[in-house]
Amino acid sequence: MKPFSRELFGSRFGVLMALAGSAIGLGNLWRFPYLTAQNGGAAFILIYIVLLLLVSIPTMITEYLIGRRSRTSIILTPNRLGHPKMKFIGIFAIISAICIMGFYNVVGGWTIKYLTSSIMLQFGSDTADYAGQFSEYISSPYMPLIHTFIFTGLIAFISFKGVKKGIEKASKIITPTLFIATVLIAIRAITLPGAYEGLKYLLVPDFSKVSIDTIQNALGQGFFTLGLGAGTILIYGSYTKSDENITNSSISTAALDLFFAIVAGIAIIPAIFAISYANGSTPTLDAGPQLVFVTLPSVFASMPFGDIVAILFFFSLALAALTSAMSIFESITAFIIDVTEKSRDKAVYICYLICLIPATFCSLSQGVMSDVRILGLNIFDLLDMLSANVFMTLASLFLLIFAGWILKKEDIIDELSNHGKATTPMWILSTVYILIKYVAPLGVTAIFTYWLLF
Ligand code: PFF
Repeated sequence: MKPFSRELFGSRFGVLMALAGSAIGLGNLWRFPYLTAQNGGAAFILIYIVLLLLVSIPTMITEYLIGRRSRTSIILTPNRLGHPKMKFIGIFAIISAICIMGFYNVVGGWTIKYLTSSIMLQFGSDTADYAGQFSEYISSPYMPLIHTFIFTGLIAFISFKGVKKGIEKASKIITPTLFIATVLIAIRAITLPGAYEGLKYLLVPDFSKVSIDTIQNALGQGFFTLGLGAGTILIYGSYTKSDENITNSSISTAALDLFFAIVAGIAIIPAIFAISYANGSTPTLDAGPQLVFVTLPSVFASMPFGDIVAILFFFSLALAALTSAMSIFESITAFIIDVTEKSRDKAVYICYLICLIPATFCSLSQGVMSDVRILGLNIFDLLDMLSANVFMTLASLFLLIFAGWILKKEDIIDELSNHGKATTPMWILSTVYILIKYVAPLGVTAIFTYWLLF
């Protein structure tokens, strides 16, 4: 087995930008605003924060600390920490990473197409049939595939350059740019006449809309957005220096991610309300592709300076997708490097090909292969469902059990305290340990059981 040393991130800012870049993705832009608006605004955000503190952040800390302690990718972690029988955790995580790369890269490809269309000023007419254009595009066999190959190629290009010069450098540029672009869109949105109604709808707490589903949605969103259970936090953790404070940087990542998601909500929901009122129609709220590729282009077409806002928006969407996909790609590439001991270049080629196989099926499942259904779902939706609900959840649960019940408490505290050198008070570390051992596994089990039963 190779020694514990490997290329590390160079700076604390770089680590934070890479982790935040992985967390901030399509989920923040097309899911969080919708979930918040539909589940009681600030009431949802409050529940989300509580679950973040009790379950998602402790799970992130677990993945992070195991990565840094083992300094290897998820499949070899149990071996390196002396428990080879737990290898199956890595298998779950790598399967989730490959499933996510299937549909995520396809959407990444769509963002490239919409970014180019917005640059060519193709969203100028508010009477255009955006729904028809979108479904015609995604169901065609070639163009979406070509865009997917380009999007994945961009990630491979960054990955070739390695941890410091590739991932860290790209994250340090892309993540702040993404913030600035989204803040600019939010400013445009809230200065539209009638935007206030949308802002109220998004943020004013309404506890009557809170149900068990709200809790499940909040926990599921926390897991997907932090990218738990796909080996990405673990691999970034393995590239982190031993003086980085794991608890602090996990909390900072979750806070940045939430802040960005709220700004994204402010950029999207008030704009939809303002334009609907101006047109005399009722605002329609959707999540997912329908929101970003159908509703928003028509909103942009109706707003003053909409052409610029459309470019900024699709630019943000593409960047958000890129840094998230980059972390998942790295989880698979590092796994190939660590297991086969191949060079990074070769591993990147292999990873590129591995990612393109499910992505090709996902892309075709929107058109020529739409009749292929498994469990009633097309391949795109199936991979989405399997990764988010099954593999990420199970990998996270087993990682929590591994850390809380199999590894020694002294080793966990030793890693969290940077071998006794960190200044974090002991009571915080002990609380984190209790969350890892009892609270988070119970939370994950509850969400998984609820999903299985209902
Ligand atoms: N956090 C990303 C999003 O919100 O879109 C998605 C993601 C990234 C999922 C990294 C899984 C992962 F490992």
